[in-house]
Formats: sequence, structure tokens, C-alpha cells
Amino acid sequence: MKTFDIVVVGGGGAGLYAAMEAMKTNPKLNIAVISKIYPNRSHTSAAQGGVNAALANTAKDDTVESHIFDTIKGSDYLADQDAAEVLCRDAPGIIRELENIGTPFSRLDDGTIAQRPFGGAAQPRCCYCADKTGHTILQSLYEQCLRKGVNFYNEFYILELSHDNGRLKGIIALDIKTGKIVPFNSRSVIFATGGYAKMYWNRSSNAAGCTGDGQAVAYRAGIPLKDMEFVQFHPTGLRKSGLLVTEGARGEGGYLFNKDGERFMSKYAPNKMELGPRDLVSRSIETEIREGRGYDSHAGKYVHLDLRHLGADLIKTRLPQIRELSMYFEGVDPIEEPIPIVPTAHYSMGGIDADNDGRTIMKGVYAAGECACISVHGANRLGGNSLLEILVFGKRAGHAAAMEAQENDPSPITESELQRQHKYIRGFHHHDKHERYGIIREELGKNLADNVGIFRTKALLETGYENVVELKKRFKKVRVFDTGDIYNTNLIQVLELQNMLDLSQTVAMGALLREESRGSHTREDFPVRDDENWHKHSMFEYCDDDICVSSKAVTMGKYELQERKY
Ligand code: FUM
Repeated sequence: MKTFDIVVVGGGGAGLYAAMEAMKTNPKLNIAVISKIYPNRSHTSAAQGGVNAALANTAKDDTVESHIFDTIKGSDYLADQDAAEVLCRDAPGIIRELENIGTPFSRLDDGTIAQRPFGGAAQPRCCYCADKTGHTILQSLYEQCLRKGVNFYNEFYILELSHDNGRLKGIIALDIKTGKIVPFNSRSVIFATGGYAKMYWNRSSNAAGCTGDGQAVAYRAGIPLKDMEFVQFHPTGLRKSGLLVTEGARGEGGYLFNKDGERFMSKYAPNKMELGPRDLVSRSIETEIREGRGYDSHAGKYVHLDLRHLGADLIKTRLPQIRELSMYFEGVDPIEEPIPIVPTAHYSMGGIDADNDGRTIMKGVYAAGECACISVHGANRLGGNSLLEILVFGKRAGHAAAMEAQENDPSPITESELQRQHKYIRGFHHHDKHERYGIIREELGKNLADNVGIFRTKALLETGYENVVELKKRFKKVRVFDTGDIYNTNLIQVLELQNMLDLSQTVAMGALLREESRGSHTREDFPVRDDENWHKHSMFEYCDDDICVSSKAVTMGKYELQERKY
């Protein structure tokens, strides 16, 4: 059996940067990227507004230090300060590197990379390619990986992290095209599978595939997850679909209005207005709606994002995708009419616990990007720091794995491990099973949106948690009605659902236990941040299908805890 030096699971920005950097570090390495969809369709392509770096092009007095402080303050002081520093210091170099491989950034008149204002940032430092930034970055990285000889295994779905009492052997995956179960022996594995916010189903900006596969597989293999209760709601999702309307729309000068025609952010963030951090703006919109100042419609309640005053030229050149999405999915042209929006589950701050080079507690296993929790975002991520995170930490994990791969000599994945997976999958076809995937999945999404959403209370969270436990019981009876091997998408959806169920249990549990309000986690029954008892990370370990919860200290630096004001 062939042994890879590195298997990267996930073909988005973090995975591709990791693979590219590993090849650069040692071109002799044998590297595989395993991806459940084609890499250039990964969710990175949905990142619209941009990537932060203190280049000081648009604002000449911007500094890396200011970026670090904004990130820590934005995190409600739950970010590890050493990690936030790495993120922001590495940022300018990453942008130069992207520029060198041909990423077509939008430009200022003097030819330098343009930067727009983004929420919670003291300066305009978000570099962008119109409103298709992630898409363009992803294409540049994919080209480089092909050029450097990375092996791609597209349409392979990860089933298991194979190890022998904590000694890595590789991964086991399902070839979606053929239904074959395939071992990938490897000296190291980098998880880069993206986030889990699609568990909120139709109240989410995430693609259908953002189901937390890497986190769930790592968790079941004994690797701890961290800070799972922190789920970010992006302020501006399209009312009907939850699709993202970039923060860049407000960065370019868009206004939020309630049904009384009031620019209501003046009440909540008088200095920053629409460019407050996401947790604050989402809470403000939700409050307007809850208190009856939203619009009502058959498709739900909403407020308006108004871009009309920006003019047709700006909308067409800097926000073309937003215009297109608004026209297709809401039937409004933002040049002529305001866009109906509502906060939408967008980003998972929690994930696989990893250090600043992506190392996890299992030797040879790394995590990077949204699936990791390196603790750069703490309780609330700033817009534009997500693309940055996947690039900075994808690169660092790729480098570390390339340097360390030779230290591991994995034993082979055995036939009996493959047979066990085969049997497990066949079990979903059994005729005594009757539950339907689609019903459980919708109930899970609704349960999370209703009970584990923006505003949380003990009673809601208890209901939310119990519902997840009940859905997990029902999942045991889920039947895969398609019995074929080739492109059995019903099977993949069921396996994804299992991952979301395991993770949502940690989200609800973490939210129930954390009796304070911090960043995206708002407890109406504990409205104040409680640094004495809760300035710590939550840790989740898989204990025989139950959860063992513990905590971990936040790494502090020169920034003292203080109240967040905008
Ligand atoms: O609003 C946006 O364009 C999203 C950016 C992000 O999540 O960082």
C-alpha cells in the first residue's frame, strides 16, 4: 500500500495553501488533497468581501498593531493573543504572495491594492477583488497546486481518521464516484474541511457541503474540539435563502433601515454605525425585528439594506455579485430598490483545537482554516479575517507538516478497518429502518435556529439540546433508500447529517454551560460578560457518544481585558 507524506482533507483555500506550501518546502513530498467536491467549487469561493492586511494603501497610517488590537477586541477578548499576532503579522506577506501568483486584486488609481472598510476595524484594510475575492484566490491556489504536482482525489468523502491508540495511520475515505472504500495511509494529515454553520440549514449563508466533516471525524477519533458554542450570524443574509450579502456592501457605504425609515444602528453603535462588529450588528437587526420595527412578509421578517445612494457605477463595478444575487433570489435590483435582509448563520468560531502551526494533540495530525480553532477569533470573528485565517494557517500547517512528516512511520490501514466501514454503510440500507434524512435535517436546522440562535436562554438551550439528543436517537433509524454504489448522494447526505448531529450537540451543550454573554454568544439570562468565571475556552471530547467538557486558559498578551465599545 502506498504511503503519502501528507494527506490534506479539503480542497478549499486552507487545504490548497497547505498543499502548495508543503510542495514548496519539499518538492519531493508525495501529497494528496482529498476533496468531497471539486476544489474550485469549495466554499472559499463564496467569500465575497475581502481579506484583511495592514498594507496601509488606502489608510496610510494603518499598522499591524492596530489590526491585532481590532482582532482581539472584536473577539471579546477570547482570542489567544499570540495567535492573533501571528495572523496579523503574516497578513501583508500573504497578500504579496497572492499578488505574485496572479490573484487579480482591485486597485487604487496609483496601482496599489485597494482596501475597503469592514466591520469592527479601525481602518480600511480589507483587500478585495470586487465582491468575488474568495473565488479568485481559490482559482490562483488551485492553479499553483496543479503546477507543483499535488495529487487530487476529487469526490472522495472522509469516513474516518485511522490510528492505532493515537498513532496516526492515515484516513479512510469513500470514493463517491464508485462507492469503493479507500485507505490513504499517510505520515501526516491536515484537516481543512471548512465550517459547520450549515447545520442551521436554511438560516445559513453556507454551502450545502459545510457540514463539519473534519471536525466530527477528528472529534470521534479523540481530538478535542474547542469553543463550539460560538457561531457567528452575519448581519446581512438574503431574506429568503440566507445567502450572503457581503459586509463590503456596508463597507462601500450601504445603510440599514427599519420599517420606520430609521437608520437604527445609531442607537446601537453610534460611532461605527453599520460597520460595527458582526455580533453587535446582528443583535441590533434581530432586536429591531423582535420589537416590531422590521418588515413582515410571507418569507419572514426583515430589514432593509439600502445601496441606492451609492449609484449604479459603484454597484456594478464593486458589488456586481450582490446585485446579481439580489435580482435572482429576491427579485430586487439594488440600484433601484433596497435589499431585504436578515442575519444568517455564517461562520463557526469553534473547531479542532490546534496550535499556531495547526498541530493537534495527535502527532502528525494538523488542522487549518475554519475547521480549526487556533483561537484567533475568540467569541466573534471580524469580517475579512476568515480568508486571512485560511491563508496564514493553511500555509503554516503545510510548512509544519512538510518539515515533520518524515518523523512518522505509520503502520498500514488494515482490511478489517475497511470492512468495518463497509458494514457500517451497508447498515443504512436495512429494511427495519424508516426515518428520512430530509426530515431530520430540517428539524435539526429549525431547532438550532429557534433554540440555539442569536439570543439564547437556559430554557431555549435545554430544549435545543434535548431535541438534538432525540434527533440523534432517530438518526439510528435513518434509511438510505438509494442502494446503488455510484454517486450515492443520499448516503453522503446521511453521513454529513451524522457529523452535524454530533457537532450540534457540542454547540448546544457549550451554549447551555456558558453562563455569560460574550461576542456571538448572547445569553438573555446572563447578559453581562463574566471574566472571572468564563474568560476561558470550552473544550469538548468525545466520550462514548457523550461529551466530556473541560476548559483551557486564554493566552493573554499585552492587551488587558476591557469593556468593548463601538
Ligand atoms: O461579508 C463578507 O464578505 C464576508 C466576509 C467574511 O466572512 O470574512
